[in-house]
Amino acid sequence: MTQADRMQTEESAAAPLHMIDIIRKKRDGSALSAREIEFVARGAADGSIPVDQLAAWLMAAWIRGLSLDETRTLTLAMCDSGEKFSPARLGKQAVDKHSSGGVGDKTSFLVAPLAAACGVAVPMISGRALGHTGGTLDKLEAIPGYRTALTLAEFEAVLEKCGASIIGQTRKLAPADRVLYALRDRTGTVENPGLICASILSKKLAAGLDALVLDVKTGSGAFLRKVEDCEFLASLMVATAEAAGTRTVALLTDMGQPLGRAAGNWIELAESVELLRGQRPAWSEDLRELSLILAGWMIHLGGQAESPGGGYRRAEAALIDGSALRAFFTMIEAQGGDASVFDDPAAFHKPCATEVVEAWESGFVAEMDTTALGWAVQRTGAGREKAGEPVDPHAGILFHARRGARVERGQPLATIYATKPEMLAEPVAILKQAIHFSKTPPHAVALVSRIFTRDAAEKYLIDAVM
Ligand code: URA
Repeated sequence: MTQADRMQTEESAAAPLHMIDIIRKKRDGSALSAREIEFVARGAADGSIPVDQLAAWLMAAWIRGLSLDETRTLTLAMCDSGEKFSPARLGKQAVDKHSSGGVGDKTSFLVAPLAAACGVAVPMISGRALGHTGGTLDKLEAIPGYRTALTLAEFEAVLEKCGASIIGQTRKLAPADRVLYALRDRTGTVENPGLICASILSKKLAAGLDALVLDVKTGSGAFLRKVEDCEFLASLMVATAEAAGTRTVALLTDMGQPLGRAAGNWIELAESVELLRGQRPAWSEDLRELSLILAGWMIHLGGQAESPGGGYRRAEAALIDGSALRAFFTMIEAQGGDASVFDDPAAFHKPCATEVVEAWESGFVAEMDTTALGWAVQRTGAGREKAGEPVDPHAGILFHARRGARVERGQPLATIYATKPEMLAEPVAILKQAIHFSKTPPHAVALVSRIFTRDAAEKYLIDAVM
């Protein structure tokens, strides 16, 4: 660097930054400097940048995209925007799982207690409903008394006692994501690899994890629909987290239909607890299998199994012997929740309005527009229209058939639970548009189609930018 360049860099490093300049620069397609990105993350966290300017910046970033460098800087700046949690005192490897978002995606309720029961600490920082996808926190809050907002000291105490704790990002922990996540939900700026990567990893890195398992959804219910976009997102997240010192793996998994048979809040918890009780209900097999695969990786990366397959076997043993169920109930109680509601989940379930949708023709359940099904779930009252609105714990959709199932006309296809009788018509109409039948069975789709470890992710990114 010449003396003149150095002087110019020093001068511009000292120049005051203005959000309007940063928005215009991104809008016009230029890459932002690390200082500019850090300014945005800090301003989102401390409220010094007005919401309208953050929204404009998000839309510019969504349209123009973020480079690898911009994504890495944003991820670290959002992670550094608040306090960090240190799991070091727990004396165990801290490993978490995070999904890129799906419909009926409730694996957190299984993998957290499964990994905890196998000797791994699971400090899980989750989110609320985003776009058409459900939110782990909204689901957990269906349990009376369950607190998703804990102080870091309380978080640590629950982890020490139970091995797992599931909370939300707070005003202190990854605060930039708390603001940007809610804003992306309201401004149509969710589906962007750089923004998804920074959102997910900022909270995961702030939790001080030793290792992370990422569940990157593909198919009609994923935020990114094209396989190559999902592969890019998976590689981006693995490489970014590894560069920050967290051992990470990403699995590309099918979201071409809702996972399991329930999509909503309470009904998803009830389905998860059935599996934790060792039951094998019809149409929940994919949920059981994916949870064991993800937990197997967590247990392996947490040093409690030689291989992911060995981790799978340990997780299955913890499912069968009831230790994962005990870990889940202990965690619920430690976070103020009343686990006795699971004594009779059907009795606790009190939806205001119910309608059974019957198959309107005979055939095999074929293609599903799972994103539309996710919006149908939201319109039952299980999700929110506006930020901060309460969600209905009892609303949602229970599916009685999965892709590939043979159904006869008039056979129950789904049960819709809504907040008010007048809220039934819209989800019914969406469902009828979103599910298609065929005369022959549809092609089978692999539950896990690809796995990205660090080397695979780095190679993918090098090939992608060349
Ligand atoms: N989960 C997150 O935490 N953030 C996203 O952007 C998508 C899924």
